[in-house]
This record gives sequence, structure tokens and C-alpha cells, in this order.
Amino acid sequence: MSDPRVLVVGQGGREHAIVDALHRSSEHPKVFVAPGNPGMEPLAERVPIEATDVQALVRWVRGHAIDLVVIGPETPLEAGLADALRADAVPVLGPGKEGARLETSKVFAKEMFHKAGLPTAAFRVARSADEAERMVADAPLPVVLKADGLAAGKGVVVASTREEAGAAIDAWMRRGALGASGRTLVVEEFLPGEETSILVLTDGERWVLFPAARDHKRLGDGDTGPNTGGMGACAPARVPQPEEAKAIAHALVDPLLAVLRDGGTSYRGILYLGLMLTAAGPQLLEVNARFGDPEAQVVLPLLAEDLYPLANAAARGALPKERHGTFVAHEGAAVCVVLAARGYPGSPESGIVIEGLNGPWPHGICVYHAGVNRRGANWVTSGGRVVGVTARSGTLEHARLAAYDAVRRVRFDGMQYRNDIAQSPQP
Ligand code: AMP
Ligand code: GLY
Repeated sequence: MSDPRVLVVGQGGREHAIVDALHRSSEHPKVFVAPGNPGMEPLAERVPIEATDVQALVRWVRGHAIDLVVIGPETPLEAGLADALRADAVPVLGPGKEGARLETSKVFAKEMFHKAGLPTAAFRVARSADEAERMVADAPLPVVLKADGLAAGKGVVVASTREEAGAAIDAWMRRGALGASGRTLVVEEFLPGEETSILVLTDGERWVLFPAARDHKRLGDGDTGPNTGGMGACAPARVPQPEEAKAIAHALVDPLLAVLRDGGTSYRGILYLGLMLTAAGPQLLEVNARFGDPEAQVVLPLLAEDLYPLANAAARGALPKERHGTFVAHEGAAVCVVLAARGYPGSPESGIVIEGLNGPWPHGICVYHAGVNRRGANWVTSGGRVVGVTARSGTLEHARLAAYDAVRRVRFDGMQYRNDIAQSPQP
């Protein structure tokens, strides 16, 4: 039989890590990426189609005998790419539009958590600015405000004062700063604790889990500054321990998938559980419908098991029964430090020459390209998160030191990164 052909959709560091994991498969898939970025070219053939151009992607897949499509970001899921491909009988790792609502609508997600009886922060839904202001007026502080729709990481505010909450309500609901995404709001109880993410790969009924990962969302050291898409990550996270992670996944994923199936949705893809580990037990903050970024950049390099057959089985609704609730085999620990451009997360500078990106890199280092482009012989920046430097080693501490050693080889004007990735949270 000829080698399988896989298309990865997306263009950031997460997709580079997915491409890398598929490329390592012993089934030797031929990997394509749409649209990808030049940093992925040694591993994958690029297809010049945007991730959200559903019609063009479906046409391309039809003409290229593709055996599996893996969708990286949330925007093509929201655009219905998985549904359109499935209508053409193409196996896809990624939920359809309805399943992706777990991520694309916070109100839908909360309703599903409620139906499934999952532990989550108490909340109310506001459909006008006046209603939201009334809710905030008598809410304990801090209070958490979440825009209903996708907002590229800008749709959540943890407000310590009523003024701050009022400013978000005004911007989103009166001035339309997030467009349609901000018209409806979830007003949510603040939960103190340690954050962690558990990712599972599911065929809609059975699932396998990846080691728990921890993201660092704030821009600055010590969890200061604005929220970003993620400035770095590590895996396995310090908590929960593996057996507890499994128990949490069972308690959350089985009921959630059951509620989705009851509603007629067969969810084939990644379920990303964003958790707060509180004194009263784990609480589900959010679900994403895809691999996290940068979480994928630490979880996938750790795998000691071939990703391709698992992804393929999940996409076909056929994960082996005996794998249900088990870990994807993994070894060691990984730390990823994101190098971001000046101006990130607001208006990042692009076109800045990057030095030191060509390697060779020491054993255990993977440099995942995110916002990079080529200009002549140079690498230049083309996005907010420019590269993710991941180190894999036997322990988290060794991986952390190796990652920062590698970071020091890369330079560009305005480069910003956190110095405390994989260190304990500030007291
Ligand atoms: P989300 O997009 O829902 O993950 O929210 C973004 C970030 O806001 C999370 O990673 C948490 O750090 C924080 N957050 C969201 N909801 C809560 C909550 N109920 N209590 C405390 N922090 C929260
Ligand atoms: N790192 C968080 C996310 O991918 O949503």
C-alpha cells in the first residue's frame, strides 16, 4: 500500500508541532499543510489556501486523495470545515460546527456543562449592557466577564473593581469592540486555584488523554500584564498527578460526550479541558475544541507513541475499546518558551529580521515556527507569537534550563519572552 496522505490545517506553532508529530510516524505519511509557514517546509508540503477557505480546501482535498485531515485552529471549525469534509466522506480530526460551539459560544458551553452536571463556576447570562451592569453591581469581586463568541484571547476579563468590569461591558456591549462576539456576556464567579489543562483525543465516545499541561497566559513575569494567547507552557504539569488527571478526565469527558451524543453530535477531535484546581476540587473553566497553543508544543514532543494511527482512528470513530481512558504513551518533560514580537498582544511589529533561527539545535530542542516569514535569505517576523522554543528532557527542571539556553541563541529587535515559564506560580 502507498504511504498515507495527511493534511494539517493552520499556520502557527501548534500546527508545526502537529506536523512534526505526524512526520515522525512509522507509517510515513506524506504531510501537507494549509497554509502553513516557511518554517514547516522541511517537514510538509505547503498548500496555499487559507485555513478558513472551506470551499477551496474541500476542492483541494478531493483532488489530492487525502486520507486524513487534522484541523489545528478554532476558526475553520467555526466555519464548518469539518462538516464540509465529512459530507465528502473524508476522515477529519476536529469537530463539526455544532460540537465546536463548546468553544465558540461560552453560553452554549456553560449550558452543556450544566446539563452534564459538571463542576463549573456559578454564572449568569447578560444580553444587554444594562442587564450586565445590574449583575456586576451586586457580584462579589473579583468578577469574571466572558464575551460569548470567539475573541482571539481577548474575550475574558477578570475584573478586580466594578469600574474595570464596567469598562469591559461598555467596550464590548455598547461600543461593539468584539463585534458580534461581545453582544452576549457570561458573568461568572471568580475561582481561585491553580490552572491546568487536560487534553483528550476522542472519537465521540472513547478517548485517550495527553499528559496535563500548564500554560502561562499573562505577558509578563509573575503573571503580570495583559492576557495573551499563551507565552509558554510545560508538561507534565506539576498538578494533577497522572492518576488524578485520569480520574478528572473520566468525571468530565464521559458525561460531556454523552450529553453531546444525546443532542445528536458525534465529536471527533480534541477536547481541551481548561481547569481550575480549587480547594473544593477541580472546576471546569472552559473547553476548547482543538489542541492548545502553546500546549501542543509541549505535549506532542513528549509522545512515545505514534500520533498518526490514534488521530486516524479517532477521525474514523474507531478508537480501540481497550484504549478508552488511557494515556497516550509519553516520556520525560517539556518546556516551551514563546518568543513574541514587540507590541504583542496588541499590535505586533512584523517584518523584523530574526537571527539565530537556523540551528543546528542541541539534542532535545524543537523550534516551532509561528509568526515567521522569509525575506530573501532572512527570516522575518510576521505575527505576535514568532517562535516557540521547546526543550524535552528527563525532568521539568532540566527541560527549563535547556529551553532558556536555546532561547539565548535567537535574537530580533523587540523580542519579548517570559523568564519564569515552568516555575511555580507566585504566592
Ligand atoms: P478562558 O478563555 O475561559 O480560559 O479564560 C481565560 C483566563 O481567564 C483563564 O485561563 C483563567 O486564567 C481566567 N479565568 C477564566 N474564568 C475564570 C474563573 N471563573 N475564575 C478565575 N479565573 C478565570
Ligand atoms: N493556550 C490556550 C489556548 O490555546 O487556548
